[in-house]
Amino acid sequence: MNITSAKFIKGAVGNDFTFENGIAQIAFIGRSNVGKSSLINSLCNQKNLAITSSFPGRTQEMNIFLINKSLYFVDLPGYGFVRISPKVREKLQKMIDWYFFRSGYTQKHVVLIIDANIGLTDIDLEMLYALEKANKNIIVVANKIDKIKKSEYDQKLAVLKEQIGDHTLFLFSSNKKIGVGELAAYLLK
Ligand code: GTP
Ligand code: MG
Repeated sequence: MNITSAKFIKGAVGNDFTFENGIAQIAFIGRSNVGKSSLINSLCNQKNLAITSSFPGRTQEMNIFLINKSLYFVDLPGYGFVRISPKVREKLQKMIDWYFFRSGYTQKHVVLIIDANIGLTDIDLEMLYALEKANKNIIVVANKIDKIKKSEYDQKLAVLKEQIGDHTLFLFSSNKKIGVGELAAYLLK
């Protein structure tokens, strides 16, 4: 199945939005600047559906999209924000924690996006373990594979696979449009 329609619904900050029962949610989470919003745009074949930026901490709300009138995509703020004030950082972290661990919502998939060139950082591993502990249905997307040097590709991939264990891994590049069809097909299945 393809994504034929994608509509921005709301930038929520917590329980100011009620997800409709019966519409599955797919959440996109990852470190700030890893390319969550770009990936959603690639999947939906749109340039500016989700707002992206080279400045980390661009997404500061839970941006909710309705896909094919039958599925929510939830674009979350990033964690591990580098250049954001401690106050804002805490607010964003609380928003993420609430959505995953206290809201009572379940997700059809939680898409953990990492930077393929950097691999899983300590803070990524922390998030992965927290999601595992909460029994989330996790898949890992290694974005920005266009940035990996050819000579380092095999070695970096081996480390990545070791770190993520049994979870399904997708190799992806929003810039080069690699892996887009495969990921869309998997999420919409
Ligand atoms: P926050 O909302 O701040 O958490 O960031 P985000 O994870 O939503 O990242 P965003 O999509 O805004 O992209 C961050 C930067 O990474 C932008 O400058 C993008 O152009 C760049 N970027 C995204 N995907 C890719 C990719 O596949 N390859 C390369 N080389 N750059 C990418
Ligand atoms: Mg974003």
